Amino acid sequence: MKHAVSLDNITAGYGRVRILNGLSFDVSEGEVFGVIGPNGCGKTTMLNVLSGFVTPTSGRLTIFDTDASRLTPHERCSLGVGRTWQIPRPFDKMTVADNVKTGAVHGAKIPIDKAQGAAEEALGIAGLMSKKDCLAGELTLLDRKKLELARALATKARLLLLDEVAAGLTEAEAGEVMDLVRALKDKKYTIIWIEHNIEVMLGAADRLMCMSEGRNVILDTPEKVMNSKIVEELYLGSEA
Ligand SMILES: Nc1ncnc2c1ncn2[C@@H]1O[C@H](COP(=O)(O)OP(=O)(O)O)[C@@H](O)[C@H]1O
Ligand SMILES: [Mg+2]
Repeated sequence: MKHAVSLDNITAGYGRVRILNGLSFDVSEGEVFGVIGPNGCGKTTMLNVLSGFVTPTSGRLTIFDTDASRLTPHERCSLGVGRTWQIPRPFDKMTVADNVKTGAVHGAKIPIDKAQGAAEEALGIAGLMSKKDCLAGELTLLDRKKLELARALATKARLLLLDEVAAGLTEAEAGEVMDLVRALKDKKYTIIWIEHNIEVMLGAADRLMCMSEGRNVILDTPEKVMNSKIVEELYLGSEA
């Protein structure tokens, strides 16, 4: 199967602090690729490298057959990369539909008079159509997370980078997130999906990677990763 993303021995960090220490992995087109690991191990930094907010200091990053290491976030958006943020960042005083339209206009370069259709399609997929006329600032946390997703979809992204969509949600709401990711998989999106809560990903992820200290320590089927000694020790270690 074709690779949507390849990281080859990536190192990256903030200033002089190195966070990613030779991170390597490939994600196939259409795959749901789950990422777990203790707090601070570099999961969000890895998404920052993929979306262009952090530039690697060494290694090679390929996205959809293009060397992406030096591309700006904007250029990656044109390549089909869309991300959600761990803390949702909508424009609170704008309606849900207008928030999503910004993704269509600035990301997918759809003229403003045609953006409503693209926005509604994205809202439909994200399950937020009934809230389209609400102000973003009035949404519940789950709906704010859906709005993040709809904005990314409206940029015509093919690769979705999801950062802890289920964090802070109730169990039932987290189940809704899992269903949503499954629906996106059926629509052939490639998804790199970080969650701290492993259970949420079991029903939707094709493979799981566990990171520790900026490296990939295990990458396998969800069952094998769940039952691995390394993950048990990392998670018990981080709770202790
Ligand atoms: N903008 C930043 N500047 C400096 N250090 C940062 C910045 N963002 C994250 N870090 C540090 O990088 C490390 C990895 O953080 P992060 O990638 O957010 O981890 P995770 O998402 O796995 O919890 C942490 O020690 C964090 O404090
Ligand atoms: Mg994080």
